[in-house]
Amino acid sequence: MALSLFTKTKKAIIERAQDDFATKMRLKYKPYYHAMEFQQGTHLRLKGRDMIMLSSNDYLGLSFHPKVIEACGEAARKWGTSTTGARISNGSRTYHTELEEKLAAFLGREACHISVAGYISCCSAIATFAQKGDLVLADKNIHSCLWDGIRLSHATVERFSHNNPEDLRQVLKGVSHQIPKLLIVEGVYSMEGHICRLPELAQIAEEAGCFTVLDDAHGFGVLGRQGRGTVDHFKLNDKVDLLCGSMSKSLASTGGFVAGSSDLIEYLRTNSKQTLFSAAISASQVAVASASLDVMQSEPQHLERLWKNTRRYREMLKKLGLDIWGSETPAVPIVLGSKELVYRFWQALLEKGVFTVMSIAPAVPPGKDLIRTAVSALHSDEDLEKIGAAMAYAVKQM
Ligand SMILES: Cc1ncc(COP(=O)(O)O)c(C=O)c1O
Repeated sequence: MALSLFTKTKKAIIERAQDDFATKMRLKYKPYYHAMEFQQGTHLRLKGRDMIMLSSNDYLGLSFHPKVIEACGEAARKWGTSTTGARISNGSRTYHTELEEKLAAFLGREACHISVAGYISCCSAIATFAQKGDLVLADKNIHSCLWDGIRLSHATVERFSHNNPEDLRQVLKGVSHQIPKLLIVEGVYSMEGHICRLPELAQIAEEAGCFTVLDDAHGFGVLGRQGRGTVDHFKLNDKVDLLCGSMSKSLASTGGFVAGSSDLIEYLRTNSKQTLFSAAISASQVAVASASLDVMQSEPQHLERLWKNTRRYREMLKKLGLDIWGSETPAVPIVLGSKELVYRFWQALLEKGVFTVMSIAPAVPPGKDLIRTAVSALHSDEDLEKIGAAMAYAVKQM
């Protein structure tokens, strides 16, 4: 008894956290969590050095648009900073329903539900609709929030090869028609920059009676008329049951949305744990998304500039012999194939004042270790020239 006063049992969870290899490596090499001291558009300062941002998802560059900034401040003055409650209880405001109606109309859907994060919206788009006994067919490269949604649903999951309709067909062979099925894809794959092969995949899904969910976090604002997204790009709005996405990319805010028929959205409002038990998004973030959506429709120059920059940037990388994994969009990976090469390339770019993000296995498939870069409409010609020179320097360091 006396001894127990002096011996202390170690807590296994604390030991596990302290011994974690990935954390030790992160703290040793410091590749992530860089806190910038200043940002104005694509220009930022890191440890006293001026840099060009080349990995933000501010595709249309609206996070520094005067109308968007004005809307943000005005909303906080009018509504305060937080709703401090869930939509179902004390957190609902007219600005929520107004943005939902506006987004639904833009996307050609009956209804929409917004939340505090794209992660939450996209996760709930699956977790709410799939259940034990269902079969989820998932592209193997979908985002972590979609895998979480699948796990929470307790449905059975079958993966098919990335963006591969033939493999989806194989996976579906022998599956009973009676089992409720969901197909989960992204419109634009955030790491690869690939556009979903939606025409073929949606056709197979329809034949098999699959409920189709498409996460368009990186297609919204980038593809389709005025940035309506991947489904609009292919004119396949009637083939996708539920759209989900993020407001933290082209909409220059934070938050997420799920859009579909009124029946589906009302079902989500009744059953989604992520919706019922999480506080509603703040007025400022809604106002930012709403103002950005207006700008997307009234100022086409941002989308035009984004694609002009994307074409120029992709050509530049190809001329340098870099592998961009067949990217078709402003999200452009530079595949180097090993974490050592990625680290050296990333360091060389930093040295030349270009900020990018490393993505290494298991975040990407083995052998596909890459630098994730993304073009913005805000990149000037001068920015792109500097980026080109930095890339050429990094290639020479390999
Ligand atoms: C495909 C995809 N879905 C969802 C999300 C989550 O969005 P958010 O960052 O707004 O939570 C992301 C974020 O990177 C994403 O890439």
